[in-house]
Amino acid sequence: MKFTKYFLWGGSSSAPQTEGAYNIDGKSLTVADLKYYELVLDKKKTISEIKKMTNSKLRNALENFNELYFPKRLGINFYNTYKEDIKLLSELGINSFRISISWARIIPNCDDGVVNQKGLEFYRNVIMEFKKYKIEPIITLSHFDLPFKIVEKYGGWKNKKVIDLFIEYAKVVFKEFKNEITYWIPFNEINAALFSPWVGAGLIIDNEDNILQSSYISLHNLFIANSKAIKIAKIINSNFKIGCMIASFPSYPINSKPDNVILNQKDQQLKMYLYLDVMCKGIYPNYILKYWKDNNISIDIKDDELKIISNNNVDFISFSYYMTSINSVEKTEEVEANLITLSKNPFLTENDWGWQIDPLGLRYILNDLWDRYNLPLLIAENGVGFKDDLTKDHKVNDNYRISYLKDHIEQLLESIKDGVNVFGYLLWSPIDSVSSVTNEMSKRYGLIYVDLDDLGNGTNKRFLKDSYYWFKNYISQK
Ligand code: BG6
Repeated sequence: MKFTKYFLWGGSSSAPQTEGAYNIDGKSLTVADLKYYELVLDKKKTISEIKKMTNSKLRNALENFNELYFPKRLGINFYNTYKEDIKLLSELGINSFRISISWARIIPNCDDGVVNQKGLEFYRNVIMEFKKYKIEPIITLSHFDLPFKIVEKYGGWKNKKVIDLFIEYAKVVFKEFKNEITYWIPFNEINAALFSPWVGAGLIIDNEDNILQSSYISLHNLFIANSKAIKIAKIINSNFKIGCMIASFPSYPINSKPDNVILNQKDQQLKMYLYLDVMCKGIYPNYILKYWKDNNISIDIKDDELKIISNNNVDFISFSYYMTSINSVEKTEEVEANLITLSKNPFLTENDWGWQIDPLGLRYILNDLWDRYNLPLLIAENGVGFKDDLTKDHKVNDNYRISYLKDHIEQLLESIKDGVNVFGYLLWSPIDSVSSVTNEMSKRYGLIYVDLDDLGNGTNKRFLKDSYYWFKNYISQK
């Protein structure tokens, strides 16, 4: 059995992790530009500490704006190297690529309606460059780079005014690219609002009396924005396909003890199903209403907002898949994933960061989501971070990455045989970029090596890893 010729073989990336040029051609600051490289100050910093934004960290970032090192301001300089990078991507043989557009490049002041033509021009150039090589661009409108002005002036996504500001931005982009783009994803990993409130919702942790409540309020506003974006998008071009995107966290009960099984079920509702139930079925399920009540969380949800959510559902589901975890009522060994802490499964191996490797988990989540929602599925991110060694002759022997990809793609094929409707597989990420949570370069996902270290030293040249040749050959036979 082969993949159909329409299957999207591609890659994924984000503006804050690749573009650099953080203050060029009119772009304003984003929440990503204010994350300095904390591991250089303290190697023992945990991921949970790094991902949080506090007032003291923010003050530190603003007061030492030019002294501290902020990796996402540099990215991999894609703003200037996109032509060469897209050429290398085209030679890989892929037919699709997911990029994100930075709101702060398009409407830098966010609330004055002034559109930055240079921002639009940059993305038009990038989109046309992909099209030149017959690579279908897939666009995310917000990938962990909320404009900082939204934080300063409005306090982040918990403020309902942000919904309309986002829609203004979305409208500009939908109109601009109404003939070039088919697939749109309004928000990357929308569940990050709960698990990583700074990048997901623009919340400063110590400004909130009840961070859990503020995160759910922000999430509700994100859901409204998602539905409003769908509505406006379909008016602009009824052929647009709009998808939601979650970070998937499939997990298994540690054993058949009923307490573990029910714990696992509750865990999956809060980590994954809630977001999809709202964006795919248009309802707030009973389990979340009960959870809010039990946890004294009060959210002002208006009838007309529920109507918008219920009337404007997504066309497809996209998700990132990196690892699975287990649930147990007893304490077990844990690992910090990028958004949350997960329990380790003793049957699995792991990468340098302790992220567990579970190819079968991909088949499991694909079947699970297809059975539950019956909507076409797109694997928007799958890949693995490793520390790579560049040899003197500029090679990277990354058999570990080849094994990972091969095993995952085999399970993807199995899920298609199972009857799952999955229409694409996007690698995270064909080209090395700055890590989302730890802001380091040494956590490399790419098939293309970028010669930059954690402090931005290096030639910034690109070198092809063994996995690049393997992937190119592999998909050409599929
Ligand atoms: C996803 C994000 O959560 O995970 C990406 O959408 C991110 O932006 C990826 O890069 C891997 O996480 P990290 O922190 O290892 O880069």
